Order: sequence, then C-alpha cells, then structure tokens
Amino acid sequence: MSLQQFLDDLDVLVTKAQQAFDSAVSLADMETSRIEFLGAKSGLLKSVQKQMGTVPGPEKPAAGKRFNEVKNAIESAFDAAAQRLETSAVEVADEGFDATLPGPKISMGKIHPISQTILLLKDIMGRLGFTPVEGPEIEDSWHNFDALNVPLAHPARDPLDNFYLSNAKIFASDLAAGTASQADMLRSQTSTVQVRMMQHNQPPLRIISLGRVYRPDTADETHYPMFHQMEGLMVDKHVTMADLKTVLRLFATAYLGDSVPVRFRPSFFPFTEPSVEVDYFWNDRWVEFGGAGMVDPNVLTSVGYDPEQVTGFAFGLGVERLCMIRHGIKDIRDLYTNDVRFLAQF
Ligand code: PHE
Repeated sequence: MSLQQFLDDLDVLVTKAQQAFDSAVSLADMETSRIEFLGAKSGLLKSVQKQMGTVPGPEKPAAGKRFNEVKNAIESAFDAAAQRLETSAVEVADEGFDATLPGPKISMGKIHPISQTILLLKDIMGRLGFTPVEGPEIEDSWHNFDALNVPLAHPARDPLDNFYLSNAKIFASDLAAGTASQADMLRSQTSTVQVRMMQHNQPPLRIISLGRVYRPDTADETHYPMFHQMEGLMVDKHVTMADLKTVLRLFATAYLGDSVPVRFRPSFFPFTEPSVEVDYFWNDRWVEFGGAGMVDPNVLTSVGYDPEQVTGFAFGLGVERLCMIRHGIKDIRDLYTNDVRFLAQF
C-alpha cells in the first residue's frame, strides 16, 4: 500500500469515528462505537494499523507519525462524547434534585453605610486612645448651650434653628430679654457630650462621641434635618493646638487611606478659643469637615476643672460628609431614602 493511500484511509477513519461519536445518544451507543473503532482485537483503528506494515520502508516513519495523531484524535473525541452523555445522564436521572448545584442564595441584611462609617471611626479613634461614649439625643438647653458658653441672646438659640420640644420661654422676645432658659430640645450638636463627660469625670480625658444631631434645615444635596457628628475631646496637662492638628491628620490619613493634609481656618465657637474650621485636602480640593478648637477656659471652669492646670482640645466632624467622600456619594438624601438598590451597594 502506498503512503498516500494509507494516509487517505486514516482521514476517512477519523471522520467516520467523529460522526459515530457525535450521533451517539446513549452510553450503550458509545460502547458500540468504542468496540467498532477502538476495539483491541478487531477495531477499525487496529486493522488500519496492520496495513502500516505494507507501506514501503522509507515512508514508514511518516505513516507511523500520522497514525499516532489519528489514534490520539479518535481517543480524545471518544472521551469528550462519553463525558457529554454522562453529564446529561446524571441530569435526567436526578431531575428533581441535583446535590452539586449551589443552594438558593439567602439575602442578608447589611449594616447601613452610616453605621459602617461610625464603626470604622470608633476603630480608628480607638487606636489613637479615644474611648467612645454616648449622650442623650433629647437634651436640655443648659447642656446644648449654657454650659457651652453660648449666651442667652445668641442667635444659635433661635427657635427657627432648633427643634425645641417644650413650650418653654424660647421666643425671640424672651431670648432678647435674656429670660429664656431651660428647654428640652433635640440636641443640635454632639458638643453636649463634652459637658456631660467633664461633669462626671476628672482629667485626663480622651473621648469621642458619635451620634445624631438635629437642625431644622431644608433637605438638599448637602443638608438634612438629622445628621451625625463625631465629637472628640482631649483634656490633660499641656494639651496644645499641635496635638489637635496631629490627631485630626492621623485620623484622616487612617480613614481615607492616604496622606491627607489638614488646614485650619480661623473661626468662632463660643466654647472654644481659639476656634477653627477643619478642612481636608482630598481629590484635589479642600473640603470642610467640621469645627474644632481649644476648649474655652470658661467651659473648663463651668465643669469644675482648673484651666490653670489642664487644657483641652475639642472637635466636631460631620459623619455624613466623611461617609460620602469615602464612597463618592453625591446626595445626602440617598442615605435616608431607604432605597434597597442604593443601600445594597455598601
Ligand atoms: N459643635 C460644633 C458644630 O456643631 C463643632 C465643634 C465641636 C466646634 C467642637 C468646636 C469644637 O458646628
């Protein structure tokens, strides 16, 4: 037999085998085809192999090489076809139950992004030695204002800027006359917790307080009548503005994951002196995050501390802003609309 004829026979064989495997519909069909083509005694592959002996001597290596290729091709085509039929056989047999499929997905609730932020802030500040504490959301105006050195006639006490809860004397005329005083209100700042802590604890103090505050602002992209603040307070001997700046920079660097420069702008709060606005440089611009300053000696005195012995710093940062900047959230209202499609992303 000439080499060419031998090669032609091999080509015919490989095509026939592939066709037979393709048209098999059961494992029994596969077994028949296996005997027909790959059978050890009288399979077609075997009989073609026998013909190789008749190919002229010098052309034998070429014939052998091609034979091996065809043998491998037929064997792997057989395996692939058998595999295909086995898989569908399992499917047919166990139509009702397939133990290999993943179970149904249980949809779990998630922690709200603001709560996630609060947990992270507590973690970071904890590493800087600040203990988390809490204070009441329903406050009296003494803790919200008086103890924080806010005079009776100060505009921050205006009923239009606060959620007062009682009909106490809080009208503008009373404010002007200086006769308004104790009224229950939703706290407008977490600085109330500073006072509560200092009243009941002796220095040194290093605390943070994270919680809700309320102001009657009209909701828009950056305002909401309820939001969260992180208040920080450190009182000890020799606490300085440099400590304040360092803590705020270390905090921001830990929170935003990059070196974040801090900028102080002169400002005024009745309970700190000097007072500053705190800006962080993030994404190529300065963003305002809150207020801070050195605790006013009047405040220290009002809680029975000696301003000659101890000094302190305090800061109040907006938690929503911290959360929004980290996640690229553009509208604060998204945080409180309770749309699961939004909340499921965090
Ligand atoms: N309580 C201030 C506010 O709500 C922020 C602040 C906190 C400023 C602590 C100074 C010190 O705007």
